[in-house]
Amino acid sequence: MTEIRHTLKGRPVQFDLQQTPLHWIPGDVFSTHLINAIHILLPEGELWFCRVYNQALPLVTDPQLREDVQGFIHQEAIHARAHTKAQDYLRQHDMDIEQATARVRWLFRDLLGDNPLGQTWLANAATRKHWLVMRVGIIAAIEHFTGCLGQWAMDSKGWDDADPVMADLFRWHLAEEVEHRTVAFDLFEHLCQTQLGFYASRQALMALVFPLFVAITAEVAKSLARQDSDPQAQIVARWSLPRFLRQMERAGNSSDHVPAFSVLVRATLRWLSPSFHPQYEGNTEQALAYIARSPAAQAAH
Ligand SMILES: [Fe+2]
Ligand SMILES: [Fe+2]
Repeated sequence: MTEIRHTLKGRPVQFDLQQTPLHWIPGDVFSTHLINAIHILLPEGELWFCRVYNQALPLVTDPQLREDVQGFIHQEAIHARAHTKAQDYLRQHDMDIEQATARVRWLFRDLLGDNPLGQTWLANAATRKHWLVMRVGIIAAIEHFTGCLGQWAMDSKGWDDADPVMADLFRWHLAEEVEHRTVAFDLFEHLCQTQLGFYASRQALMALVFPLFVAITAEVAKSLARQDSDPQAQIVARWSLPRFLRQMERAGNSSDHVPAFSVLVRATLRWLSPSFHPQYEGNTEQALAYIARSPAAQAAH
């Protein structure tokens, strides 16, 4: 369990992306489209987190964890709203995102929903509970990456020359990911019956989540690049996944506009340790300091 406890709360924020250019990371279409892919993945993904967690809440017997889960749900719901607004920014720049958002919706509502693919094998209460706990485990694996990306964003100077509103949207969101990084892991552990089962499940789920997370994000990023008339974007749109990841590594090491792919690989390797806990993956004080100076959070006050 975590040592640092403080109350998680959803914070009001206000963003105006009217003046934000499509290439909000100047001179780097690859990083721009890669980061913009998050606007398409997250609203559905985070609303799915909220639905799963609302179902899991009655199973939580630890009052402190229950409070954390409620704070987590509130924060993720606000994140989803912010990225839904950012989808309008993509539409304003003539990006057709309907097909990509429909696929993401299918993933989170149909495949990972309460009744996946309309099957009836979840009629049994025990199976339904098992499926709920597995989905909590999938969220824990995803949240490992959002927490690590959050710490990367707190440390990185790569967006200092980027559009300040969009950079703030991501930094505010990622700071809250650092802030609540332990909740998903603790909830999954709480709902698993044995430590061995917890360890085995989180490894099996990560083996699924890591490649899918990388492949889906790259596909969505390429779908955005395909619609961008910039010649470099057209090249990015044709890259294979290995070529795409090589560029991510290069961009991460040179410009720091995105995390290097090896940052994600190392994060996955740390997850393998039986003593792994996300508490040691980030700096809460640093994240809270960013939230305190975030222009979007200040504007909402
Ligand atoms: Fe979030
Ligand atoms: Fe999160």
